[in-house]
Amino acid sequence: MRVIMLAPPGAGKGTQGERISARYQVPHISSGEILREETARQTPLGKQLSGYLDRGDLVPDDLVLSIIKDRVIAAAREDGGYVLDGFPRTLEQAEAAAEIGREAHTSAQAVVYLDAPADVLIGRLMGRGENRADDSEAVARHRLEVYTDHTQPLVDYYAARGILVKIDAASPVDVVSQEIFSALDRLKD
Ligand code: AP5
Repeated sequence: MRVIMLAPPGAGKGTQGERISARYQVPHISSGEILREETARQTPLGKQLSGYLDRGDLVPDDLVLSIIKDRVIAAAREDGGYVLDGFPRTLEQAEAAAEIGREAHTSAQAVVYLDAPADVLIGRLMGRGENRADDSEAVARHRLEVYTDHTQPLVDYYAARGILVKIDAASPVDVVSQEIFSALDRLKD
């Protein structure tokens, strides 16, 4: 199972990514988590990343690719697939991911697109309680703007490739999971 999750902040990429990972036994690769871990370790790279994360800006494409590329290739080759949470996030990253796929003779089977109204998303981020530096209301609203400008265009990109699965992420968590599983189970038939 090779799945990309495409969604605004707070729509449930992390929550549903874990569940997809457990059901289909593939690694959950969260670009945000990987970047936050690097930042927490205070490595030279981590220090370079922290400003972007704290402001809610995107980390430059070349840096993200250098951090995530090998993990995606290894997951596709060795672990039977992946669920990508937060990557690709720009058209440049999507093109680079497609190129990686061509080199590795693989490609994503589905892009799960979760969407919910902005007020629902902001409400969830304010209530998450994980103490994330980017969960203040001002930064959360900025993350939504960044999503609209840079990531939303991927909806059309993947729809044109015929692999977009749109799910209403305003529904309760279990309902969202069931809709995702029904769509992904059909891929295996
Ligand atoms: P990232 O970690 O990807 O954050 P995000 O996209 O802002 O998404 P979140 O983690 O906030 O939300 P989520 O959709 O995972 O929702 P969750 O399941 O937690 O990225 C962080 C930063 O890293 C970026 O700003 C950027 O700086 C950098 N970055 C990452 N990837 C990058 C890339 N590829 N390129 C460049 N920069 C990159 O749910 C949220 C809350 O809602 C939780 O409390 C959850 O319990 C609850 N919830 C979930 N679903 C439901 C539901 N259906 N009903 C009720 N509550 C729900």
